[in-house]
Amino acid sequence: MSFKSAIYPGSFDPVTKGHMDIIKRSAKMYDKLYIAVLTNSSKRCSFTIDERIEMIKKCTAHISNVEVCTFSGLLAEYAKSIGVIAIVRGLRAVTDFEYEFQMALTNKKINKELETIFLTTNSKYMYLSSSIVKEIARNGGDITDFVPAAALEDIKNRLERNDKNGL
Ligand code: PNS
Repeated sequence: MSFKSAIYPGSFDPVTKGHMDIIKRSAKMYDKLYIAVLTNSSKRCSFTIDERIEMIKKCTAHISNVEVCTFSGLLAEYAKSIGVIAIVRGLRAVTDFEYEFQMALTNKKINKELETIFLTTNSKYMYLSSSIVKEIARNGGDITDFVPAAALEDIKNRLERNDKNGL
């Protein structure tokens, strides 16, 4: 086992420029970066797993060492099954810390080989989250500055459709 590869897990509902910043930086740190698009059982997602995967694939098509994946079950078990021992997560502010600390310790309890590597967010994106993007879009605001250009239209179309259907 080595730190040559890492896994960056998240809900990415939808992917933001903050996520892209973490993806680009960690793809430089590791030979291979798996982006795991997952279901967070405590969140209700607006985009389907397939939509989120497609958007991240489009946004990372130019990064050759990235592979987008998904699975059901535990992250710690999946990481073991593909021989990865590094989990990458972005930290925006102190408010993220307790949740991230709990996840990192739980993952380590399940699989003691695992290390969670925290990247501090780029200060430009400290305030940014997928929920903020959805909130702005649903209220008619412009999300161009917040989401990667490659996913902008998909995100706008989907949120408009959700709105019309009262979702
Ligand atoms: O972007 P998010 O919603 O903060 O990501 C959370 C996610 C999806 C990484 C987390 O819920 C997760 O790892 N889910 C997979 C199931 C699992 O292993 N749960 C235990 C982790 S404490």
